Parts: sequence; C-alpha cells; structure tokens
Amino acid sequence: NMWNHPITVDNLKRLRDIAGYHVVAPGVGYLACRWVGAGRLAEPADIVGAAACLRTPQDLAGKRVVVSSGPTHEALDPARYLANRSSGKMGIAMAHAAHRRGAAVTLVLGPTGQPVPAGITVVAVESALQMAQAVEQAAASADVVVMAAAVADFRAATIAPQKLKRSSLGATPTLALRANPDILAGLGAARQKAKAQRPLLVGFAAETENVLAYARDKLVRKQIDVIVANDVSQADAGFAVDTNRVIVIDADHAVHVPFGTKAEVAHRVWDALLPRLNHAPVGKKANGAGAKPAKNARRKGKR
Ligand code: PMT
Repeated sequence: NMWNHPITVDNLKRLRDIAGYHVVAPGVGYLACRWVGAGRLAEPADIVGAAACLRTPQDLAGKRVVVSSGPTHEALDPARYLANRSSGKMGIAMAHAAHRRGAAVTLVLGPTGQPVPAGITVVAVESALQMAQAVEQAAASADVVVMAAAVADFRAATIAPQKLKRSSLGATPTLALRANPDILAGLGAARQKAKAQRPLLVGFAAETENVLAYARDKLVRKQIDVIVANDVSQADAGFAVDTNRVIVIDADHAVHVPFGTKAEVAHRVWDALLPRLNHAPVGKKANGAGAKPAKNARRKGKR
C-alpha cells in the first residue's frame, strides 16, 4: 500500500524525472504488514547489479541476446544419464555481461546448480532436443545467438522406461546411440536458406588440440559468423573453473582474449562481438583498425 500510494508514486517520479535518480524496485511477496505485494527490500545482489549497470556502458541496449549454456543430460533410464563436464559458468557470464550492457537476455540453460543473476530470462532444459527447441524459438526474434552450451552430440537410441538392472545387462553391455541435431548448424542452415543476416550466430569450440584449425573448421561447417575457440587442455581454462582464455575468430580476424575471470573474459568477448553486431569484423570499429588479421586471412581486398 505504501509503495502504491499516490504520494510515494509521485515522489519517486520526481526523483527519477527531475533529479535523475535510478530506482531499484522493491521485491514482491509477503510483507511485514501481512499484505502480499510490492514492498520487500530488494535483494542485495539486485541492488549491486543495478548499480553496476549504471557504471557499465549500455552498448548492447536494444539488442535481444540469446545465450545457451551448461551441459545437456541425455537420459538412459529414469535414474541415469549421459552428460559432460560443463558447469554453465561461461555461458552464464556471457548472459550476465550482456544484461549489464543493456541487452534483453534469454538464457537457455542446461542442468547446472549455478545461480543466475536477476534480470535474465531463463529457459531451463535438460536434453539436447529440449535445448534445440528452446534455442530455435528464442532465436526467431534475436539479434545474436551465442551457443556456449556443451550440447551432447549423441543420445541413447532408446530410453529404458524402468531403471536398468545390472543383472539384466550382461558382462559387457553395449549402449546404442543416435545423433542429436546440431543446433547451431541448424540455425546457420536456416539463416542461409532465408538469405538473412540475422541473428548473428556465435559458437564456442572447446578443443584440446589444433585449437585454431578445429575452431575454424566449425565456423565454416556450421555456417556461422564467429567462433570462440576455448583451449580446454589447460587446467585454468574451460570446463568448470572460474577463469578462462579464448580466441574470438571470424572469417578474417582473430582477437586473443587473455586469461581472466569468466566475467572479465565474457566482457572482452562482447567487446570483440560488438563490431559484428554493427556489421564490421570482430574487434574492429566499423570505421577503423583494431583486430589482428587471422593467420589465414585473405591478404587482398578484405581488410
Ligand atoms: O560451462 P563451463 O564449465 O563454464 O565451460 C565452458 C565451456 C568449455 C563449455 C565453453 O566455454 C565451451 O567451449 N562451449 C562449447 C563446448 C563444445 O565442446 O562445443 P562443440 O565443439 O561440441 O560444439 C561447437 C558449437 O556447436 C558450440 O557452440 C555448441 O554449443 C554447438 N553445438 C554442438 C553440438 C550440437 N549438437 N549442437 C550445437 O549447437
């Protein structure tokens, strides 16, 4: 009642309009006065987040960003699944950085215990098929799709309806698999077919050897715009840790993002992507220099 009272509403409007204050709205829920509604003290993390946004250039304002993150779980039976070591931290950092920079962010998140900052729309999924459906739906109205998720390439050919009994499997059981759809390649092919330029398609490539060559191969094969090469052979980068180092690559340029926290790396990746959102190569201002040409950059007429 106090929050909705015309005098409070009027005073806050004056603070916003005349004095330029920014207001973190209260939380909604059960209140000390025993009413339910808006009036709870905002969560400290939301207050800190709102203050941080004010200190961050809003260079993604107006952009609709879709990020996928985390592993997928491919069920074998009601108790077991196939998975991988992704914690979801890198993709959540990408989503958080985009949100801080003013974007409207949808995060398609595989099963992970990681907290997601307020203000990001989360679509929780388990399997690669669910992730494909959620990403495709969100991508339809997105300016950029960033696939940081470690999507399982295969799922069980059949999911047992009951928990499999060890005794029924024999000494050397075999597991029949079938391929999952390649979500990113599907988006690349659909965009190509529609002769469209949007959404900008950004993949991640976790590699343990020939990092640049394998990442570039994925860039071309999946018909996407940018790939973020992640050397996961290092203990302090890639899966599950809080730090990373990556290389942001497009057809002609490569930007090396040095070692840092995943939050820092995410901001540097967005710095590199920003020109691409404005139709220039990664790391390059639309009218100027900035990015290193990639080793195999075409030499003439392309720089
Ligand atoms: O989650 P963290 O613990 O923080 O770890 C971060 C990370 C290492 C998972 C992340 O930085 C990363 O590298 N993600 C990509 C993982 C990967 O191995 O991707 P890939 O090489 O299998 O696939 C390449 C690209 O295609 C990825 O963008 C992937 O999301 C996409 N893909 C893959 C398979 C599939 N069926 N559909 C897809 O869309």
